[in-house]
Amino acid sequence: MKTYRIAVYPGDGIGPEVTREAVRVLQTAAERDGGFALQLTELPWGYEFYRQTGQVAPDNLLEVLQPFDAILLGAVGWPAELPDHVTLAPLVRIRQSFDQYACVRPAKLYPGVRSPLAGKQPGDIDLVVIRENSEGEYVNVGGRFHAGHPDESALQTAVHTRRGVERILRFGFQMALDRRRKLTMITKSNAQRFAYVLWDDILEELRGEYPGVEVDKQHADAAVMNFVRCPERFDVVLASNLFGDILTDLGGLISGGLGLAPSSNLDPSRRRPSMFEPVHGSAPDIAGKGIANPIAAVLSAAMMLDWLEEPRVAGAIRRAVEQVLAGGQTTPDLGGRLTTVEVGDELVREVGSAERK
Ligand code: NAI
Ligand code: MG
Repeated sequence: MKTYRIAVYPGDGIGPEVTREAVRVLQTAAERDGGFALQLTELPWGYEFYRQTGQVAPDNLLEVLQPFDAILLGAVGWPAELPDHVTLAPLVRIRQSFDQYACVRPAKLYPGVRSPLAGKQPGDIDLVVIRENSEGEYVNVGGRFHAGHPDESALQTAVHTRRGVERILRFGFQMALDRRRKLTMITKSNAQRFAYVLWDDILEELRGEYPGVEVDKQHADAAVMNFVRCPERFDVVLASNLFGDILTDLGGLISGGLGLAPSSNLDPSRRRPSMFEPVHGSAPDIAGKGIANPIAAVLSAAMMLDWLEEPRVAGAIRRAVEQVLAGGQTTPDLGGRLTTVEVGDELVREVGSAERK
Protein backbone atom coordinates (compact mmCIF):
# COMPACT_ATOMS: atom_id res chain seq x y z
CA MET A 1 0.00 0.00 0.00
CA LYS A 2 1.21 3.48 -0.81
CA THR A 3 2.39 5.46 2.21
CA TYR A 4 2.74 9.22 2.23
CA ARG A 5 5.17 10.79 4.66
CA ILE A 6 3.75 14.05 5.96
CA ALA A 7 5.63 16.60 8.06
CA VAL A 8 3.18 18.27 10.45
CA TYR A 9 4.31 21.69 11.66
CA PRO A 10 1.53 23.01 13.93
CA GLY A 11 3.41 26.19 14.97
CA ASP A 12 2.01 28.74 17.40
CA GLY A 13 -1.24 30.08 18.81
CA ILE A 14 -4.26 28.47 17.15
CA GLY A 15 -1.92 26.62 14.76
CA PRO A 16 -1.76 23.49 16.95
CA GLU A 17 -5.50 23.71 17.76
CA VAL A 18 -6.64 23.69 14.14
CA THR A 19 -3.93 21.29 12.95
CA ARG A 20 -5.01 18.67 15.50
CA GLU A 21 -8.50 18.65 13.96
CA ALA A 22 -7.16 18.65 10.40
CA VAL A 23 -5.02 15.61 11.23
CA ARG A 24 -7.99 13.79 12.82
CA VAL A 25 -10.15 14.40 9.75
CA LEU A 26 -7.31 13.43 7.42
CA GLN A 27 -6.64 10.19 9.25
CA THR A 28 -10.30 9.25 9.43
CA ALA A 29 -10.79 9.94 5.73
CA ALA A 30 -7.66 7.97 4.79
CA GLU A 31 -8.66 4.98 6.94
CA ARG A 32 -12.17 5.04 5.56
CA ASP A 33 -10.81 4.99 2.01
CA GLY A 34 -8.21 2.36 2.71
CA GLY A 35 -6.27 3.02 -0.49
CA PHE A 36 -3.18 4.53 1.13
CA ALA A 37 -1.54 5.14 4.50
CA LEU A 38 -0.27 8.32 6.11
CA GLN A 39 2.89 8.48 8.14
CA LEU A 40 2.78 11.71 10.11
CA THR A 41 5.79 13.26 11.83
CA GLU A 42 5.15 16.21 14.10
CA LEU A 43 7.77 18.95 14.22
CA PRO A 44 7.70 20.96 17.44
CA TRP A 45 8.97 24.21 15.89
CA GLY A 46 7.82 27.69 16.81
CA TYR A 47 7.87 29.94 19.83
CA GLU A 48 8.03 27.12 22.42
CA PHE A 49 10.95 25.58 20.57
CA TYR A 50 12.61 29.00 20.61
CA ARG A 51 12.22 29.23 24.38
CA GLN A 52 13.98 25.93 24.78
CA THR A 53 16.67 26.22 22.11
CA GLY A 54 17.02 29.90 21.19
CA GLN A 55 15.86 29.14 17.63
CA VAL A 56 12.39 28.95 16.12
CA ALA A 57 13.45 26.00 13.96
CA PRO A 58 16.75 24.15 13.67
CA ASP A 59 19.36 25.33 11.16
CA ASN A 60 18.99 22.11 9.17
CA LEU A 61 15.23 22.43 8.78
CA LEU A 62 15.42 22.03 5.00
CA GLU A 63 17.34 18.75 5.31
CA VAL A 64 14.78 17.57 7.84
CA LEU A 65 11.86 18.43 5.54
CA GLN A 66 13.26 17.32 2.17
CA PRO A 67 12.41 13.58 2.51
CA PHE A 68 8.71 14.23 3.18
CA ASP A 69 6.02 14.04 0.52
CA ALA A 70 4.29 17.16 1.85
CA ILE A 71 4.27 19.62 4.74
CA LEU A 72 1.08 20.42 6.66
CA LEU A 73 1.48 23.69 8.51
CA GLY A 74 -0.75 25.34 11.11
CA ALA A 75 0.36 28.92 11.62
CA VAL A 76 3.36 30.64 13.10
CA GLY A 77 3.84 33.85 15.09
CA TRP A 78 3.74 34.86 18.72
CA PRO A 79 4.13 38.62 18.41
CA ALA A 80 3.87 39.49 22.10
CA GLU A 81 7.12 37.63 22.77
CA LEU A 82 9.00 37.48 19.50
CA PRO A 83 9.05 39.77 16.43
CA ASP A 84 7.17 38.34 13.45
CA HIS A 85 10.16 38.45 11.12
CA VAL A 86 11.87 35.95 13.47
CA THR A 87 8.97 33.50 13.80
CA LEU A 88 8.05 33.74 10.12
CA ALA A 89 11.63 33.35 8.84
CA PRO A 90 11.53 29.51 8.60
CA LEU A 91 8.33 29.75 6.52
CA VAL A 92 9.84 32.16 4.07
CA ARG A 93 12.93 29.97 3.89
CA ILE A 94 10.87 26.87 3.16
CA ARG A 95 8.84 28.62 0.45
CA GLN A 96 11.90 30.07 -1.26
CA SER A 97 14.43 27.24 -0.84
CA PHE A 98 11.95 24.59 -1.92
CA ASP A 99 10.99 26.86 -4.81
CA GLN A 100 7.30 26.66 -3.93
CA TYR A 101 6.63 29.28 -6.54
CA ALA A 102 2.89 28.82 -6.88
CA CYS A 103 0.76 29.84 -3.95
CA VAL A 104 -2.78 28.70 -4.65
CA ARG A 105 -5.64 30.14 -2.62
CA PRO A 106 -9.23 29.29 -3.52
CA ALA A 107 -12.07 31.50 -2.34
CA LYS A 108 -15.44 29.79 -2.49
CA LEU A 109 -18.71 30.74 -0.87
CA TYR A 110 -20.27 27.58 0.56
CA PRO A 111 -24.01 27.05 1.13
CA GLY A 112 -24.85 27.99 4.70
CA VAL A 113 -22.13 30.66 4.87
CA ARG A 114 -22.95 34.34 4.65
CA SER A 115 -20.71 36.58 2.63
CA PRO A 116 -20.24 40.10 3.99
CA LEU A 117 -21.15 41.20 0.45
CA ALA A 118 -24.88 41.78 0.31
CA GLY A 119 -26.88 39.49 -1.94
CA LYS A 120 -24.08 37.10 -2.87
CA GLN A 121 -25.16 33.48 -3.14
CA PRO A 122 -23.13 30.27 -3.25
CA GLY A 123 -21.91 30.02 -6.82
CA ASP A 124 -21.38 33.77 -7.09
CA ILE A 125 -17.97 33.45 -5.46
CA ASP A 126 -15.83 30.58 -6.69
CA LEU A 127 -12.42 31.84 -7.68
CA VAL A 128 -8.83 30.92 -7.06
CA VAL A 129 -5.97 33.33 -6.64
CA ILE A 130 -2.55 32.15 -7.75
CA ARG A 131 0.12 34.20 -6.13
CA GLU A 132 3.69 34.20 -7.44
CA ASN A 133 5.50 33.02 -4.35
CA SER A 134 9.21 33.08 -5.09
CA GLU A 135 10.26 36.56 -6.21
CA GLY A 136 8.64 39.88 -7.08
CA GLU A 137 8.20 42.43 -4.35
CA TYR A 138 9.17 40.06 -1.51
CA VAL A 139 12.79 39.38 -2.36
CA ASN A 140 15.26 40.40 0.28
CA VAL A 141 17.00 43.04 -1.83
CA GLY A 142 17.59 46.57 -0.65
CA GLY A 143 19.13 48.41 2.23
CA ARG A 144 18.94 51.26 4.68
CA PHE A 145 21.36 54.13 4.69
CA HIS A 146 22.15 56.78 7.30
CA ALA A 147 20.19 54.89 9.93
CA GLY A 148 18.65 57.15 12.51
CA HIS A 149 19.64 60.39 10.75
CA PRO A 150 17.19 62.92 9.33
CA ASP A 151 18.22 61.95 5.82
CA GLU A 152 17.84 58.24 6.46
CA SER A 153 16.70 56.37 3.39
CA ALA A 154 15.47 52.90 2.56
CA LEU A 155 15.65 51.13 -0.74
CA GLN A 156 13.37 48.13 -1.36
CA THR A 157 13.81 46.47 -4.69
CA ALA A 158 11.50 44.02 -6.45
CA VAL A 159 12.87 41.34 -8.75
CA HIS A 160 10.77 39.93 -11.60
CA THR A 161 12.47 37.41 -13.85
CA ARG A 162 11.29 36.20 -17.26
CA ARG A 163 11.62 32.62 -16.03
CA GLY A 164 9.65 33.35 -12.86
CA VAL A 165 6.84 35.19 -14.62
CA GLU A 166 6.57 32.69 -17.45
CA ARG A 167 6.33 29.65 -15.20
CA ILE A 168 3.64 31.14 -12.97
CA LEU A 169 1.64 32.27 -16.00
CA ARG A 170 1.81 28.78 -17.49
CA PHE A 171 0.69 27.37 -14.16
CA GLY A 172 -2.26 29.80 -14.21
CA PHE A 173 -3.25 28.94 -17.77
CA GLN A 174 -3.14 25.26 -16.91
CA MET A 175 -5.38 25.77 -13.89
CA ALA A 176 -7.80 27.85 -15.96
CA LEU A 177 -8.07 24.93 -18.40
CA ASP A 178 -9.06 22.69 -15.49
CA ARG A 179 -11.67 25.19 -14.27
CA ARG A 180 -13.91 27.70 -16.08
CA ARG A 181 -11.23 28.72 -18.58
CA LYS A 182 -10.84 32.33 -17.56
CA LEU A 183 -7.58 33.91 -16.45
CA THR A 184 -7.33 37.42 -15.01
CA MET A 185 -3.83 38.79 -14.52
CA ILE A 186 -3.39 41.51 -11.91
CA THR A 187 -0.54 44.03 -12.16
CA LYS A 188 0.00 47.74 -11.93
CA SER A 189 1.62 48.19 -15.31
CA ASN A 190 0.22 51.67 -15.78
CA ALA A 191 2.45 52.97 -12.99
CA GLN A 192 5.28 50.44 -12.63
CA ARG A 193 6.51 50.37 -16.17
CA PHE A 194 9.41 47.96 -15.98
CA ALA A 195 8.34 44.99 -13.92
CA TYR A 196 4.67 44.78 -14.82
CA VAL A 197 5.11 45.62 -18.49
CA LEU A 198 7.36 42.54 -18.52
CA TRP A 199 4.36 40.63 -17.12
CA ASP A 200 2.15 42.12 -19.87
CA ASP A 201 4.66 41.18 -22.57
CA ILE A 202 5.00 37.60 -21.39
CA LEU A 203 1.22 37.20 -21.14
CA GLU A 204 0.96 38.31 -24.78
CA GLU A 205 3.65 35.82 -25.80
CA LEU A 206 1.95 32.90 -24.07
CA ARG A 207 -1.75 33.42 -24.64
CA GLY A 208 -1.63 32.05 -28.19
CA GLU A 209 -0.62 28.68 -26.75
CA TYR A 210 -3.84 28.52 -24.73
CA PRO A 211 -6.56 29.51 -27.20
CA GLY A 212 -9.27 27.98 -25.02
CA VAL A 213 -8.63 30.40 -22.16
CA GLU A 214 -10.27 33.81 -22.01
CA VAL A 215 -7.67 36.34 -20.82
CA ASP A 216 -8.29 39.55 -18.92
CA LYS A 217 -5.91 42.06 -17.33
CA GLN A 218 -6.71 44.36 -14.42
CA HIS A 219 -4.70 46.80 -12.39
CA ALA A 220 -4.54 45.97 -8.70
CA ASP A 221 -6.68 48.93 -7.62
CA ALA A 222 -9.45 47.98 -10.04
CA ALA A 223 -9.15 44.34 -9.00
CA VAL A 224 -9.84 45.01 -5.31
CA MET A 225 -12.87 47.02 -6.31
CA ASN A 226 -14.11 44.25 -8.61
CA PHE A 227 -13.60 41.54 -5.98
CA VAL A 228 -16.22 43.43 -3.98
CA ARG A 229 -18.40 44.62 -6.85
CA CYS A 230 -18.55 41.55 -9.10
CA PRO A 231 -16.63 38.56 -7.69
CA GLU A 232 -18.62 36.27 -10.01
CA ARG A 233 -16.58 37.55 -12.95
CA PHE A 234 -13.39 35.92 -11.68
CA ASP A 235 -12.22 32.36 -12.15
CA VAL A 236 -8.42 32.06 -12.00
CA VAL A 237 -6.75 35.25 -10.76
CA LEU A 238 -3.01 35.47 -11.22
CA ALA A 239 -0.93 38.03 -9.38
CA SER A 240 2.58 38.90 -8.30
CA ASN A 241 3.66 38.21 -4.74
CA LEU A 242 2.47 41.49 -3.19
CA PHE A 243 -0.81 41.85 -5.06
CA GLY A 244 -1.57 38.18 -4.51
CA ASP A 245 -1.01 38.62 -0.80
CA ILE A 246 -3.47 41.50 -0.64
CA LEU A 247 -6.08 39.93 -2.89
CA THR A 248 -6.13 36.64 -1.00
CA ASP A 249 -7.07 38.28 2.30
CA LEU A 250 -9.94 39.95 0.47
CA GLY A 251 -10.87 36.71 -1.30
CA GLY A 252 -10.93 34.92 2.05
CA LEU A 253 -13.07 37.61 3.59
CA ILE A 254 -15.75 37.80 0.90
CA SER A 255 -16.17 34.03 0.96
CA GLY A 256 -16.83 33.81 4.68
CA GLY A 257 -13.66 34.79 6.47
CA LEU A 258 -10.20 33.57 7.31
CA GLY A 259 -11.60 30.63 9.24
CA LEU A 260 -12.48 29.00 5.90
CA ALA A 261 -9.60 30.00 3.61
CA PRO A 262 -7.08 27.28 2.68
CA SER A 263 -3.82 27.66 0.83
CA SER A 264 -1.01 25.72 -0.75
CA ASN A 265 2.59 26.56 -1.61
CA LEU A 266 3.49 24.33 -4.53
CA ASP A 267 6.71 23.27 -6.18
CA PRO A 268 5.15 22.15 -9.47
CA SER A 269 8.40 20.40 -10.46
CA ARG A 270 7.73 18.08 -7.49
CA ARG A 271 11.41 17.91 -6.69
CA ARG A 272 10.76 19.21 -3.18
CA PRO A 273 7.85 18.87 -0.80
CA SER A 274 4.99 21.34 -1.16
CA MET A 275 3.40 23.00 1.86
CA PHE A 276 -0.27 23.31 2.79
CA GLU A 277 -1.57 25.80 5.35
CA PRO A 278 -4.56 27.94 6.21
CA VAL A 279 -4.33 31.55 5.01
CA HIS A 280 -4.82 32.78 8.56
CA GLY A 281 -2.11 33.34 11.15
CA SER A 282 -1.76 32.20 14.75
CA ALA A 283 -4.63 34.45 15.98
CA PRO A 284 -3.21 35.23 19.45
CA ASP A 285 -6.47 37.03 20.32
CA ILE A 286 -8.37 33.73 20.41
CA ALA A 287 -5.54 31.24 21.04
CA GLY A 288 -6.24 28.85 23.92
CA LYS A 289 -9.97 29.60 23.93
CA GLY A 290 -10.89 26.57 21.87
CA ILE A 291 -12.98 28.57 19.39
CA ALA A 292 -10.71 28.75 16.33
CA ASN A 293 -12.39 27.54 13.17
CA PRO A 294 -10.53 24.40 12.02
CA ILE A 295 -12.07 24.35 8.52
CA ALA A 296 -9.34 26.39 6.80
CA ALA A 297 -6.81 23.85 8.09
CA VAL A 298 -9.04 20.93 7.10
CA LEU A 299 -9.51 22.31 3.56
CA SER A 300 -5.73 22.81 3.35
CA ALA A 301 -5.31 19.13 4.18
CA ALA A 302 -7.78 18.35 1.35
CA MET A 303 -5.65 20.44 -1.03
CA MET A 304 -2.67 18.36 0.10
CA LEU A 305 -4.49 15.16 -0.84
CA ASP A 306 -5.30 16.60 -4.25
CA TRP A 307 -1.61 17.36 -4.73
CA LEU A 308 -0.72 13.81 -3.66
CA GLU A 309 -3.19 12.67 -6.33
CA GLU A 310 -5.76 11.27 -3.94
CA PRO A 311 -8.71 13.32 -5.21
CA ARG A 312 -11.30 10.82 -3.98
CA VAL A 313 -10.36 11.34 -0.36
CA ALA A 314 -9.89 15.08 -0.86
CA GLY A 315 -13.41 15.18 -2.27
CA ALA A 316 -14.79 13.25 0.71
CA ILE A 317 -13.28 15.82 3.07
CA ARG A 318 -14.72 18.71 1.08
CA ARG A 319 -18.15 17.12 1.07
CA ALA A 320 -17.94 16.72 4.85
CA VAL A 321 -17.09 20.41 5.16
CA GLU A 322 -20.07 21.29 2.96
CA GLN A 323 -22.38 19.18 5.11
CA VAL A 324 -21.18 20.72 8.35
CA LEU A 325 -21.42 24.28 7.01
CA ALA A 326 -24.85 23.71 5.49
CA GLY A 327 -26.02 22.38 8.86
CA GLY A 328 -24.77 25.52 10.60
CA GLN A 329 -22.48 23.50 12.87
CA THR A 330 -19.85 26.19 13.15
CA THR A 331 -17.52 28.12 15.43
CA PRO A 332 -18.37 31.68 16.58
CA ASP A 333 -16.58 33.38 13.65
CA LEU A 334 -19.37 31.99 11.43
CA GLY A 335 -22.10 32.70 13.93
CA GLY A 336 -22.19 29.23 15.49
CA ARG A 337 -21.61 28.03 19.02
CA LEU A 338 -19.38 25.02 18.56
CA THR A 339 -15.80 24.72 19.74
CA THR A 340 -12.85 23.83 17.53
CA VAL A 341 -12.97 20.22 18.75
CA GLU A 342 -16.75 19.96 18.29
CA VAL A 343 -16.47 21.07 14.66
CA GLY A 344 -13.67 18.52 14.31
CA ASP A 345 -16.00 15.86 15.79
CA GLU A 346 -18.73 16.73 13.26
CA LEU A 347 -16.28 16.52 10.37
CA VAL A 348 -14.85 13.22 11.58
CA ARG A 349 -18.38 11.86 11.87
CA GLU A 350 -19.23 13.01 8.34
CA VAL A 351 -16.11 11.61 6.66
CA GLY A 352 -16.36 8.43 8.74
CA SER A 353 -19.92 7.73 7.63
CA ALA A 354 -19.61 8.96 4.06
CA GLU A 355 -20.51 6.69 1.18
CA ARG A 356 -17.43 5.37 -0.54
CA LYS A 357 -17.21 6.97 -3.99
P1 NAI B 1 -4.55 36.22 12.01
O1 NAI B 1 -4.91 35.60 10.72
O2 NAI B 1 -3.83 35.36 12.97
O3 NAI B 1 -5.88 36.80 12.72
C1 NAI B 1 -6.67 37.82 12.15
C2 NAI B 1 -8.07 37.81 12.77
O4 NAI B 1 -8.79 36.69 12.27
C3 NAI B 1 -8.03 37.65 14.28
O5 NAI B 1 -9.06 38.42 14.86
C4 NAI B 1 -8.29 36.18 14.49
O6 NAI B 1 -8.91 35.87 15.71
C5 NAI B 1 -9.18 35.83 13.31
N1 NAI B 1 -8.94 34.44 12.89
C6 NAI B 1 -7.86 33.98 12.22
N2 NAI B 1 -7.96 32.67 12.03
C7 NAI B 1 -9.13 32.27 12.59
C8 NAI B 1 -9.77 31.01 12.71
N3 NAI B 1 -9.25 29.87 12.23
N4 NAI B 1 -10.97 30.98 13.36
C9 NAI B 1 -11.51 32.09 13.84
N5 NAI B 1 -10.95 33.31 13.76
C10 NAI B 1 -9.76 33.41 13.13
O7 NAI B 1 -3.66 37.50 11.65
P2 NAI B 1 -2.89 38.50 12.64
O8 NAI B 1 -3.65 38.69 13.89
O9 NAI B 1 -2.58 39.66 11.79
O10 NAI B 1 -1.52 37.79 12.95
C11 NAI B 1 -1.29 37.01 14.13
C12 NAI B 1 0.06 36.33 14.00
O11 NAI B 1 0.03 35.38 12.92
C13 NAI B 1 1.21 37.27 13.69
O12 NAI B 1 2.32 36.84 14.42
C14 NAI B 1 1.42 37.09 12.20
O13 NAI B 1 2.71 37.40 11.79
C15 NAI B 1 1.14 35.63 12.06
N6 NAI B 1 0.77 35.20 10.71
C16 NAI B 1 1.23 33.99 10.31
C17 NAI B 1 0.86 33.46 9.09
C18 NAI B 1 1.33 32.09 8.75
O14 NAI B 1 1.69 31.32 9.61
N7 NAI B 1 1.33 31.72 7.50
C19 NAI B 1 -0.01 34.20 8.18
C20 NAI B 1 -0.51 35.44 8.73
C21 NAI B 1 -0.11 35.91 9.95
MG1 MG C 1 -1.12 37.73 3.90
